[in-house]
Amino acid sequence: MSTTAKKFDERARGEFAQFGTTRVHPGELLRHPVYTRFLHWSVAIFFILSLLSGFAIYSPWLFHWITPLFGGGPRTRAFHPWFGLLFEVFFLFQFINWVAPMAWVEADRLWMRRMRRYVTNEDRVEADDVGFFNAGQKLYFWAIVLSGVLFLITGLLMWFDNLVGRWVVAVSYVIHDLAALLMLAGFIIHVYEGTAHQPGTFRSMMDGTVTERWARTHHPAWYRAVTGREKRQEER
Ligand code: HEM
Repeated sequence: MSTTAKKFDERARGEFAQFGTTRVHPGELLRHPVYTRFLHWSVAIFFILSLLSGFAIYSPWLFHWITPLFGGGPRTRAFHPWFGLLFEVFFLFQFINWVAPMAWVEADRLWMRRMRRYVTNEDRVEADDVGFFNAGQKLYFWAIVLSGVLFLITGLLMWFDNLVGRWVVAVSYVIHDLAALLMLAGFIIHVYEGTAHQPGTFRSMMDGTVTERWARTHHPAWYRAVTGREKRQEER
């Protein structure tokens, strides 16, 4: 990432601290500062608005109950590209904010080989080399990056359909819908992982903190890096 983007991100993290509080009590660790939480929830809001309005446009018959939320069919159609654009803008900042810890490393290749054990909850504790994000979280992030690029290109082509050929618009519809399906699948898994599957994770996006026990369990290498301590003997 360029130094300018990095500097911008560091400044934003500092300045956003005044708009919210993050209290880290004994036995807890700071996971997501105010700026990251602001970006995450802005991305989430505009993603959900895009998804709902997109569904209503895709199948007005099946999703007729959605359009009144946006003031009727024509308004839903008019709002959708703007919700999408705002999703893209906030995700661009989120990308800058998270691209460093999302880099793919050797530990992620090993995590992928153990994925079945993760999904079936065979291990009580993650492997020692799992850092700030695990490979599953990184995959989700990079899937959003890919879908984000596809949404933007195909969305603009459909929005300004008078400037391009009919077949370009037709192909754009298909790609746009496939990207939406990928995002929807990822979103469902993500909400499950961030809430029911891993208790103690959701609060990291609310008050910014997690317990040390949570960090030792799910991200041992990150726990070691921030505390300088090893895992507890009884948790091995
Ligand atoms: C509305 C329901 C949502 C909930 C409950 C939720 C919850 C969370 C939580 C708790 C984390 C922190 C995980 C950690 O620190 O390990 C997180 C991270 C993240 N969220 Fe969400 N989120 C939601 C919606 C979204 C949406 C709509 C997107 C993007 C389209 C998104 C993208 C991400 C990404 C990329 C991460 C970092 C990687 C990961 O943890 O998977 N989230 N989310």
